[in-house]
Amino acid sequence: MSRLRSAVVKGKKGRLETVETTIRTRKKSKAPVKEEPTTSSFPPSLYHTFSDPAEVVFLRSHLLRWYDKDKRELPWRTLALTESDINIRTYAVWVSEIMLQQTQVATVKDYYNRWMKEVNQMWAGLGYYSRGRRLHEGAQKVVLELKGQMPQTVDDLLKQLPGVGRYTASAIGSIALGQVTGAVDGNVIRVLCRLRAIGADSSSPAVTEALWRLANLLVDPERSGDFNQAMMELGARVCTPKGPLCSQCPVQSHCRSYHRVHVKQEQSAKELLGKLDMPDIEDCMNSGTCSLCPSEPWDDQLGVQNFPRKPPKKAPRAERTLTCVVTRPGEAGGEEYLLVQRPNKGLLAGLWEFPSVLLQEDNEVKQKRALCEEVNRVLRSCFNEHLLQYVGEVVHIFSHIHQTYVVYSMRLKDRAVTQQTPTEKRQWLTRPGLQEAAVSTGLKKIVKLFDTADSLKDKNSKDGKRQKPEGLKHDRSQKTKKSRPTAADGGGRQLSLSSFFKTVKEESS
Ligand code: ADE
Repeated sequence: MSRLRSAVVKGKKGRLETVETTIRTRKKSKAPVKEEPTTSSFPPSLYHTFSDPAEVVFLRSHLLRWYDKDKRELPWRTLALTESDINIRTYAVWVSEIMLQQTQVATVKDYYNRWMKEVNQMWAGLGYYSRGRRLHEGAQKVVLELKGQMPQTVDDLLKQLPGVGRYTASAIGSIALGQVTGAVDGNVIRVLCRLRAIGADSSSPAVTEALWRLANLLVDPERSGDFNQAMMELGARVCTPKGPLCSQCPVQSHCRSYHRVHVKQEQSAKELLGKLDMPDIEDCMNSGTCSLCPSEPWDDQLGVQNFPRKPPKKAPRAERTLTCVVTRPGEAGGEEYLLVQRPNKGLLAGLWEFPSVLLQEDNEVKQKRALCEEVNRVLRSCFNEHLLQYVGEVVHIFSHIHQTYVVYSMRLKDRAVTQQTPTEKRQWLTRPGLQEAAVSTGLKKIVKLFDTADSLKDKNSKDGKRQKPEGLKHDRSQKTKKSRPTAADGGGRQLSLSSFFKTVKEESS
């Protein structure tokens, strides 16, 4: 079992989704169109759905023809089509879907290829470290509890894999397993809202329900995975948030927003010419009370970008955090850096960072004292706050926090005083180790500032302006030398993907 355990990658995964899905079984006959039952007491007006089965058939074929001609070759798509082992195929799509949550395809591609070969700490570069952790937990469960067998229906994916919600289960189920279900992610929300002129808050329950119903209605039963990926691809490349390329859209003729823009343009042209026979603008019959119609009036300037609508974003809250780059002389020259691990839940869950405290008071003396106390707590030491040197400030913006790091350094001259057994939450890393560790982008900015301040100091001392203080003579020139992190940095190796599953089969039989 220990071999198995080591096979389970050091991964991370986050956002939980809600659990509910509609599955139809794959049919061999040509594209039946079935109206989904609704749980809503007020079914949306026909304006917001597709009531003509023939139109659904046309839309599918327009979209898939475009996809077949224009789709990007992506590694997970290739695996989904070519990998014959159902477990590996499902795992491969699972990894891709988790990585693609809130990270763009172009960024994911390289990480994905590396992940599928070997995993170490690379996930940190994608942000959302906790998504990787969830993936790790899920992979462990598959190996240790499910005998290496990936769940094979959308319902089982939902029930059995931690962190896999409605969208992810549907995407994996359709792409890897051919299950007939729609899959509604951010791109698909935009495409559907524009197609059916859905302008109410796109995160409201009524809109969410309507979008899943639409996705389940439209999905091609014979090519569900391709259909869902085509919808995502359309949203990513044509029906974009800003500057959509409507003239290149394969489903333009099915789009109520596009139609509306054109009728408006025709109306304006006729008005200019003084003509009275205005074309009608199709509209929702219930617009005053409809839960899918926008509450704001149509804005001519926005065109199809009138849809979708989101509630206005809250301004990010401002936070100031004191952080300290603590170094000690390394065993083989260079310096080592003290890192502590963030809690497994919440912002930057599980990532490694320098000892930090949230700034409560804007009083420099108290700030330094609080930061020094934190370093002493981590190291179980009693260093004096006079060892703290101010380095500068770094700003990092999260979606909901405007974070300023107030950076100090503390250079310890003696390794001996820091030799306590490393705990799980604390480690000393060499420079190459730091470069490979699971750290946030904010920490990377702090390191950059620290290096810049350091090289300025070196330059000044070389110019004879200031003497290098005692204890700052460590050779930091090895910075760019790449080597594996030391054992203390927690870097683990993964077996190749096929041996990952093969091992389980062998051990469980
Ligand atoms: N976003 C989420 N899943 C995707 C996929 N399979 N292809 C492209 N973009 C995606």
